[in-house]
Amino acid sequence: MTYRSEYELSTTDPIAFWSGAARAIEWARPPAVTLDDRTAPLYRWFLDGVLNTCFNALDRHVRAGYGPRDALIYDSPVTGSKRSFTYAELTTLTAKFAGVLRHLGVGQGDRVLLYMPMIPETVVAMLACARIGAVHSVVFGGFAAPELAARIDDAEPHVIVTASCGIEPNRIVEYKPLLDAALDLAGHAPARSVVVQRPLCEARMSDRDVDYTELMNSQIEPAACVPVAATDPLYILYTSGTTGKPKGVVRDNGGHAVALAWSMANVYDIGPGDVMLTASDVGWIVGHSYIVYGPLLVGATTILYEGKPVGTPDAGAFWRVVEEHRVRAVFTAPTAIRALKRTDPSGEYFQRYDTSSLNNLFLAGERLDPDTYNWATTIFDVDVTDHWWQTETGWPIAANPRGLESLPSKPGSAAVPLPGYAVHILDDSGDRLGADHEGAICLRLPLPPGTLTGIWGDEARYIDGYLNRFPGYYLTGDGGYLDRDGYLFVLGRTDDVMNVAGHRLSSGQIEAAIASHPAVAECAVIGERDPLKGQVPRALVVTKVGHDTTGLSEEILHLVRTRVGAIASLSRVDVVGGLPKTRSGKILRRTLRQLVDGESASIPSTIEDAGVLDELGTILADRSPHESACPDQGVVRP
Ligand code: COA
Ligand code: AMP
Repeated sequence: MTYRSEYELSTTDPIAFWSGAARAIEWARPPAVTLDDRTAPLYRWFLDGVLNTCFNALDRHVRAGYGPRDALIYDSPVTGSKRSFTYAELTTLTAKFAGVLRHLGVGQGDRVLLYMPMIPETVVAMLACARIGAVHSVVFGGFAAPELAARIDDAEPHVIVTASCGIEPNRIVEYKPLLDAALDLAGHAPARSVVVQRPLCEARMSDRDVDYTELMNSQIEPAACVPVAATDPLYILYTSGTTGKPKGVVRDNGGHAVALAWSMANVYDIGPGDVMLTASDVGWIVGHSYIVYGPLLVGATTILYEGKPVGTPDAGAFWRVVEEHRVRAVFTAPTAIRALKRTDPSGEYFQRYDTSSLNNLFLAGERLDPDTYNWATTIFDVDVTDHWWQTETGWPIAANPRGLESLPSKPGSAAVPLPGYAVHILDDSGDRLGADHEGAICLRLPLPPGTLTGIWGDEARYIDGYLNRFPGYYLTGDGGYLDRDGYLFVLGRTDDVMNVAGHRLSSGQIEAAIASHPAVAECAVIGERDPLKGQVPRALVVTKVGHDTTGLSEEILHLVRTRVGAIASLSRVDVVGGLPKTRSGKILRRTLRQLVDGESASIPSTIEDAGVLDELGTILADRSPHESACPDQGVVRP
């Protein structure tokens, strides 16, 4: 099999391609209908199939005799602890917690929200939900109480699972007070919250709280796997859109299992017994797909790493894990590699370890600049794979499919579209652009299995936000081009979404926090290039007449950290005389993005007062002190 033959089959006969891929999954009832297009532009994969995702991730491997194989290795430099869980042990724990959830009244289709750090209990809770057909929604632990409250109100969970704390290298983040504050803000009240007490910090329990360990030690019966429809939701994962309101991406069971299993073999080159380290967080899509579900679905061993690339304790942290656990593939964000490059430029820490087991380094979540790609390739002496995807797709859209066929790499490119994804570059009128022409990256419908089935509770938002702009296509929100060899170059978002250290944030989300300050009349937040984090948010603020601006910047910085979270920390705040707007009052964000990127700004004729751009041009040209070190981050434009 070659990449070309597989890709062609996926376009000429998608039914044959995906029904073949579906054989990697054990179904309670195999699907007779592979693709249901009766409700186009909304499509459903494996319509009448019945399965259980937890069964496929755990029990199936135990039944096949692999119970003693390691499923999960928890490696936590921040607590100095390590623990392995075999497939048999992880199945037992998951079945027990599934029984606990049942005991707390969670039924099929009910939501369970997890606000958790990188500990084994998080994986157990996710799989336990899948086991009983409940829908989990993991919220990244770096989000502050108001963000958590917004997700609680949207998902309306019956139960919340949390831990007493998360551990950052410089501090302990107490989760319970954040959860309590979020529940004070939220309109929805869960019936119960289950709390994992971590030894480093004991949470104060309320009447609503129940202790995880007590429940797990109780006589509650374990729960068996519940067969669910392939189209039933497995999870909701909130991601940042262009407005302040997070959107809950809904993933189904059947398409997800099939697509992830396909990607493990064909993209990541990981199979039964192989070890994978995905250094991300379970609160993000990368964590969902490639810390938890992907590796377990194929009977591999996954590493749950609670630490950072540097500082826990040093730039050798990943390589120590690779040596100790004989890791075959590492997956992380380019920011992590840039942090290593900065701390260990000549790879001295890397050379201290035996990394001979390592075959592949996969990078995604933000743009991989050619400098970082070249440095990693030279220093680590492995195949480095830049691949591009989104929370919405759940698995890679474009990649070098290492397990299928290693293609030549091109720095700055996420390589080629994967089977199932028809990638086209469109201009503003929806016409297809030829090779080397930059435009909106769009995916012709239908999307392959495993991609989003919609936005939780808001079908219109999916259709309006993604499908209506260019009928027949899914709008990715990224801009870029395909070169003459069919390689995709992703140049960045064309909307108000930014990627900060691989964390996806929206301008609107941060602006809403800033606008709550009594001195602020209006504001705009834009992503500014940063040599370490790819982008960092920076704010322009117009104050209300008569308000004193002394100390305002610090107050706004603090406000964003407490309302959105430390991951959204602003690089700087500038008080300005006005923002560029259209005559109808819409802020010209594209113009601001161009100014901050040092590009010549396109000024629409509808601008209300072009004069404000003179002041802004000067302010935005004055970038954060480190910005001058990376004028364009090696963006390769045709
Ligand atoms: N819970 C609570 N706070 C968190 C958090 C979490 N899960 N994750 C990050 N934060 C906090 C950090 O402690 C930091 O707080 P501070 O400003 O008080 O120091 C802030 O959010 C910013 O974090 P981050 O952007 O991660 O920067 P950093 O300086 O702490 O670390 C790197 C820099 C490069 C080490 C880090 O960004 C990294 O590991 N990046 C990899 C990116 C990644 O895995 N992305 C996931 C998508 S693939
Ligand atoms: P998330 O949904 O958090 O995974 O973020 C998805 C967004 O991250 C994409 O729409 C891109 O803007 C960006 N992204 C992810 N991977 C890449 C990549 N390999 N190259 C460029 N941008 C990327």
